[in-house]
Amino acid sequence: MRRYIFDGKNRRVPGKKSYIDIDAWMEYIIVKRMVFATVRSKAMTMEEPYQSFANSYDRYIGPITRGIRKAALEMIQPVAGMRILEVGCGTGLNLQQLQRAGNGVHGIDLSLPMVIEAHRKLDRTAVLSVSDAAQLPYPDRVFDLVIAMLTLHEMNDTMRSGVIKEIIRVCRTSGRLLLVDFHPGPRRFIRGWLVRGIVLFFEYSAGAEHFDNHNRFLAAGGLTGLIRSYPVAVERQKIIGGGNVALFVLKINAEPVE
Ligand SMILES: C[S@@+](CC[C@H](N)C(=O)[O-])C[C@H]1O[C@@H](n2cnc3c(N)ncnc32)[C@H](O)[C@@H]1O
Repeated sequence: MRRYIFDGKNRRVPGKKSYIDIDAWMEYIIVKRMVFATVRSKAMTMEEPYQSFANSYDRYIGPITRGIRKAALEMIQPVAGMRILEVGCGTGLNLQQLQRAGNGVHGIDLSLPMVIEAHRKLDRTAVLSVSDAAQLPYPDRVFDLVIAMLTLHEMNDTMRSGVIKEIIRVCRTSGRLLLVDFHPGPRRFIRGWLVRGIVLFFEYSAGAEHFDNHNRFLAAGGLTGLIRSYPVAVERQKIIGGGNVALFVLKINAEPVE
């Protein structure tokens, strides 16, 4: 195995007698980056929790959520020409794929830095706004598909119920809702617990309020518990990530589901 000489700060220092092999060095770099991301996200403020994380979101969260996005798109099988809204659109990772598939996309997010990232990757036909999804700036029944992905878990109970009411209001009766979020299990051994560890790492790193909302959301049954009180019917559902992530495609009903 090749060996390099580094000082304590991992700088190459010829002649210094501290040897580590390249595998250990790579490990050091990966851990250092994770710790850096955590420390940085600890600096998130309550006013703008994504302020310092928006420009790293795609790098850290993009790869680990790729499978979820793929599963979600397979479930909705978007045909070109739909009018789609994503609430909590973040950096636009979902909207980008849907726009490329020929759909008209709208995104709403509370975080200006996240919307700026979305604006960078979407073409100018996308309609993006910084606003609260609990008060959507749209008339009733205008979207063919409304998406909330990895967003509802981070809201408090009041905001979450406001958002659900709003996304039902703006969705056409012939339209669909796509909800994707963390799931309380049961978790498969070993994969489910490994995924749970990664989720906990990021959720804890996102700050006390975010973590508390996440825990309360799961304790109330996640999406399964949430949708019971609203006038929607499950068209398709899937549990992935070893039991940690639920995906629901919902139709709008006239009457609340018991
Ligand atoms: C974990 S990110 C998920 C982003 C994106 N949906 C994705 O799949 O990558 C959650 C996003 O929800 C946004 N958010 C949280 N509460 C919101 C609210 N009440 N209205 C609009 N956006 C909200 C946050 O600002 C953040 O960008």
